Amino acid sequence: MLDDATALAEAAARMIVEAAREAVAARGRFLVALAGGATPRATYSQLARPPFRDTMPWEHTWIFFGDERAVPPQHPESNYRMAHLALLSLVPLPLAHILRMRGEAEDQEAAATEYASAMRQVFDTKRGDLPRFDLILLGLGVDGHTASLFPYSAALKEIVRWVVSVHAAAAAIPARLTMTLPVFNAARRVMFLAAGSEKAKVIRAVLQDGARLPARMVRPAGGTLDWLLDRGAAAHLPTARRA
Ligand code: 6PG
Repeated sequence: MLDDATALAEAAARMIVEAAREAVAARGRFLVALAGGATPRATYSQLARPPFRDTMPWEHTWIFFGDERAVPPQHPESNYRMAHLALLSLVPLPLAHILRMRGEAEDQEAAATEYASAMRQVFDTKRGDLPRFDLILLGLGVDGHTASLFPYSAALKEIVRWVVSVHAAAAAIPARLTMTLPVFNAARRVMFLAAGSEKAKVIRAVLQDGARLPARMVRPAGGTLDWLLDRGAAAHLPTARRA
């Protein structure tokens, strides 16, 4: 547990740099999927400045997105736009290494298929294999959703497709693209970031009570799962669970 949102962003940035350096040392590149929403913005900003900026192997880093809202990239609700402004436009990342989901596409199904093909190309997976991200960052909604996997969504049952288009009636922008559970659960490492007391109740439901919410269904079989929480988000967890 971290003291506040700033400490959380610093800890997350440090862990991302470590994961990146480890991946590049072991496999020559770092494949990461970013989270959307507001929480990761502070982490992205940390990564964009020293000391983190100078120790990240940017030229070997590939950026993907776990989900996107069905809006153009310049739209205030675009996950890509947030990451672009806070991080991607500020660091020496090769442009070809930034793979954004086409939220603006009229045909969202086609955009989902297209994104999965782009992933397949970069990962160079064999037929039937899943992509293994070095790191997937995820957020948590107060209803237990993560990426754009919402409670009771048919997308939670997806076992074949890597990316799907969904309609989340409760969300401000209901049409969205999202990676699916098989992708999240094939990752080498998944890191949830959650800050603020409005998340405390759902954090308890997911981590303590084992509620079958979408975020709880992310359990990378051969990977590591980290939950980075600030004091507010961890407020309803028993003391024993605090770091
Ligand atoms: C999105 C997300 C979503 C987000 C949570 C938390 O596109 O909306 O990826 O899963 O991470 O809703 O969002 P906040 O960080 O804004 O609370």
